[in-house]
Amino acid sequence: MLRRLHKDQPDHFAFTDANLAWAEAQIKKYPEGRQASAIIPLLWRAQEQEGWLTRPAMEAVAAMLDMAYIRVLEVATFYFMFQLQPVGSVAHIQVCGTTSCMICGAEDLIGLCKEKIARHAHDLSPDGKFSWEEVECLGACANAPMAQIGKDYYEDLTAARLGEIIDEMAAGNVPVPGPQNGRFAAEPLAGLTSLKKHEQGRNEFNASAQAAVSIGDTIKRIDGTEVPLVTPWIEGSVAVAERPVANVTPIAEPVAKAPSVATPEGAKPQGLSEARDGKADDLKKIKGVGPKLETLLNTMGFHHFDQIAAWSEAEIAWVDDNLEGFKGRVSRDEWVAQARLLASGDETEFSKKVGDGDVY
Ligand code: FES
Repeated sequence: MLRRLHKDQPDHFAFTDANLAWAEAQIKKYPEGRQASAIIPLLWRAQEQEGWLTRPAMEAVAAMLDMAYIRVLEVATFYFMFQLQPVGSVAHIQVCGTTSCMICGAEDLIGLCKEKIARHAHDLSPDGKFSWEEVECLGACANAPMAQIGKDYYEDLTAARLGEIIDEMAAGNVPVPGPQNGRFAAEPLAGLTSLKKHEQGRNEFNASAQAAVSIGDTIKRIDGTEVPLVTPWIEGSVAVAERPVANVTPIAEPVAKAPSVATPEGAKPQGLSEARDGKADDLKKIKGVGPKLETLLNTMGFHHFDQIAAWSEAEIAWVDDNLEGFKGRVSRDEWVAQARLLASGDETEFSKKVGDGDVY
């Protein structure tokens, strides 16, 4: 593929103050005369800030590193991770089209992108919010087909689910990345045959998805304010262990703020001191409720599907707001609708999988 500078370029580029401080700190990692070694992190930061790599950004980086423009252009055009044309203002979707993904449905994902975003790769959608491209294997073949969106992987995709993810992002939400079919990670679809102990006490999400939820910068433009400068080689810098994360927006938070979610004045639903007849329902049959959330719900007095099925809007708002670490999940995953079905003795697609032992 021919990689050239885009025909339309902005007039100038400047790092934000925080990104500039970060970039200058990166340069200090290298001995005098070797500052050019910082080229990739600096170009990458410029792209994280703007969404794509503009000519003024390359020129600014060249000036900072005292390099000839052509040397910077050589690097930027060599690595496909650098976007040389504008990308969607919300997200650029990179669909893996290599063997495993292709035989598992990548062509459907690409078809969806053509239909929903733009006919040709790298073109912007009509509203400018999305762009897409096909990329080579991203190393998540066990969870094929998959796509990288921003910094994270969305795996075990179907065209329908990718369409929903795009709609959710367009609405200002960021769905939790990782497997989208109920799998925890890359375990066999038919279930674990060994190492089953890990199921006990595990987190709700696998480590990658959990990190994405905790850090929350999946598709965010990086202006440098997300985390304090971590430059232990510079006096007075913040050590990793001291980094506060309070200013990082968790991925789930925009969901919790969506119009359909919690109003500030919720009403606490009536709970039970213990399960009726000592026999609680398996709340993990509700999609989105893992072992941790089930324990949390039980401690709040919720043990049965019919309790959840009866929650009013105000009660949903209260629970959404009081699920520490999981705020907004009741609305996001539509627990009440699921609980109604389960309480009436019906099954959902997800609960069937739980019953068949296909969800871990
Ligand atoms: S083939 Fe798609 S991630 Fe490897």
